[in-house]
Amino acid sequence: MILVAGSANLDFVVRAHHIPGPGETVMGQEFKTYPGGKGANQAVACARAGGVATHMLLALGQDAYAEPLQASLRDANVQIHRIDCTNQPTGCAFICVADNAENAITVAPGANLCLQANHLPDLTGFTHLLMQLEIPISTVTAYAQAARAQGIKVVLNAAPAQPLPAPLLDALDLLIVNEGELSTLVEHPGNVASNLRQLAVPGVVVTLGHRGCAARLDNDYFVQPAFDIEALDTTGAGDTFCGGLVAALSRGLAPQEALRQASAAAALACTRNGAQSSVPNSSAVDTFLLSQGEFASSRRQALYDYCGLPSPTDR
Ligand code: RIB
Repeated sequence: MILVAGSANLDFVVRAHHIPGPGETVMGQEFKTYPGGKGANQAVACARAGGVATHMLLALGQDAYAEPLQASLRDANVQIHRIDCTNQPTGCAFICVADNAENAITVAPGANLCLQANHLPDLTGFTHLLMQLEIPISTVTAYAQAARAQGIKVVLNAAPAQPLPAPLLDALDLLIVNEGELSTLVEHPGNVASNLRQLAVPGVVVTLGHRGCAARLDNDYFVQPAFDIEALDTTGAGDTFCGGLVAALSRGLAPQEALRQASAAAALACTRNGAQSSVPNSSAVDTFLLSQGEFASSRRQALYDYCGLPSPTDR
């Protein structure tokens, strides 16, 4: 059983030709709202990956924005542990999606900041705790320490990027970051392999955008090239990866297969609009994987080279 503790935001999304630069105004298309927030997106991704019950601890305001967020979690079969925040509005995110599928996001965290250490539910029966950094870092640290003390695997997606205090790093089993986030966390940034080695966490997974992802789990290294897709909207793709990965690991899949399934789910998420609305279910992921052949060994080799890792045959 997985507990996701984190944020939920209502996403206000407008698509435009490009993301405006400082001082620039761009004319966009109509705006739409979607259920989002890194925490809730990852909870939906765990639940849709299937095979494991998913719970989510979140804080919402007492306003009209809370209901669509709860409804989306309920629809995905996520069991909700809601904290009511009386003095803050529900979290919101303002997102511009460019025609090249990239996005820029500004979060107004609101009620997400109400989540405190004493809100953690009884952890009996949970095997994994998955968190992100859109709630107070003191809360994330307290939850991580409580879960670690009970033998629960603690997974952190360190996004949005910020320095991680030592007590939090010490309580982690698995850290999931993108390339930029990874280099902000290490003392002497180098190539991907060197950055993965520098973090004193048992497992680190780094997502590398269109290249794919790489991981160090204890002393073993893995790479997974990205699947080729026509991207429409990349919002929530990283969250889909995190949720899919933790669900796969909690089902006992081997790391290489877990990375493959998470990457396939994230690739599909890029082909649809919105955050939670874009998360595929397990049968869509299975069908997609069946349609994909094995990667040419040159693709895997290119990824080893990019990361600065020897390929398994050279080790
Ligand atoms: O990772 C995408 C998410 O980041 C969006 O859904 C938005 O709410 C922000 O939390």
